[in-house]
Amino acid sequence: MSRLGAHIVVVGNEKGGSGKSTTAMHLIVGLMQMGFAVASVDVDFSQATLTRYLANRRAFVKAAGSDVKSPDHFTVGPPQGSGEDGREDDPDGAKAERLRLLLEGGIINHDVVVVDTPGSAGPLSALAHSYADTLITPINDSFLDLDVLAHVDGARMAVMGPSHYAEMVWKQKQVRAQRDGGSIDWIVMRNRLSSLDAHNKRKMDDVLQDLSKRIGVRIVPGFGERVIFRELFLAGLTIMDLKDAIGPQALGPSHLAARREVEELIGAIDLPEISRAVDNKSN
Ligand SMILES: Nc1ncnc2c1ncn2[C@@H]1O[C@H](COP(=O)(O)OP(=O)(O)OP(=O)(O)O)[C@@H](O)[C@H]1O
Ligand SMILES: [Mg+2]
Repeated sequence: MSRLGAHIVVVGNEKGGSGKSTTAMHLIVGLMQMGFAVASVDVDFSQATLTRYLANRRAFVKAAGSDVKSPDHFTVGPPQGSGEDGREDDPDGAKAERLRLLLEGGIINHDVVVVDTPGSAGPLSALAHSYADTLITPINDSFLDLDVLAHVDGARMAVMGPSHYAEMVWKQKQVRAQRDGGSIDWIVMRNRLSSLDAHNKRKMDDVLQDLSKRIGVRIVPGFGERVIFRELFLAGLTIMDLKDAIGPQALGPSHLAARREVEELIGAIDLPEISRAVDNKSN
């Protein structure tokens, strides 16, 4: 937890394009709909996908006069109007300082902070990982993507050892423990699961079970390969917003499955506040 009590969810994987920003956005909206006060932080200052997704959302709200909610969003770049150039002139040290300030106490009055990180290794991303209460690592459902987490012996279909990313996470777990005695709950979610390739899916299942024991991760099912997970970016919306906009009866089976996948991922996060929010709703 941050010093002020928010639960910090970091979405990370050094492999580019694994679905970090997509996952972060769906978590943010899903958590807001469950009644949590959510803040978001975009550590990926060069691509800034999450920041752009949320800017699209604000533009949609303005244009459509809609009342969809947005999180309180923060970036690690220099404050607007400061005259600093966020990409070239702002050294990583300054960004790291902003990130530290945000995660250690700058974000007040929020239940959950969702942090999106870049798809490449770096000190800023490592720092963000060290603040995670929950780390969610989406991986595309292929051995090529799994290789970023662990090296697999193809003949025996067994995990040979952790990769660079797993070692980095291990190190950040120690940094976290030394800083405040806290621990990081690491969840790996499979993303873009296809219903077609059952053989690959089974082989991945076996190796992931092995992996979960070897590097101390929990494996959760994650998201299927679905158009709905990518087609609402320009409007800044997600499948979780459609539920309210058009009513559950108007959603097709794939939409309902997508919603369930997001809800199940949120359910997998070990958040005491979740039961509180759900309890409040049912009272
Ligand atoms: N479950 C899914 N179904 C369909 N498309 C998806 C799904 N998840 C992600 N995508 C698409 O895959 C691409 C990469 O996703 P995204 O940008 O979220 O990944 P990322 O890990 O944040 O990438 P980067 O490392 O570049 O930041 C995007 O085009 C996104 O729309
Ligand atoms: Mg991204």
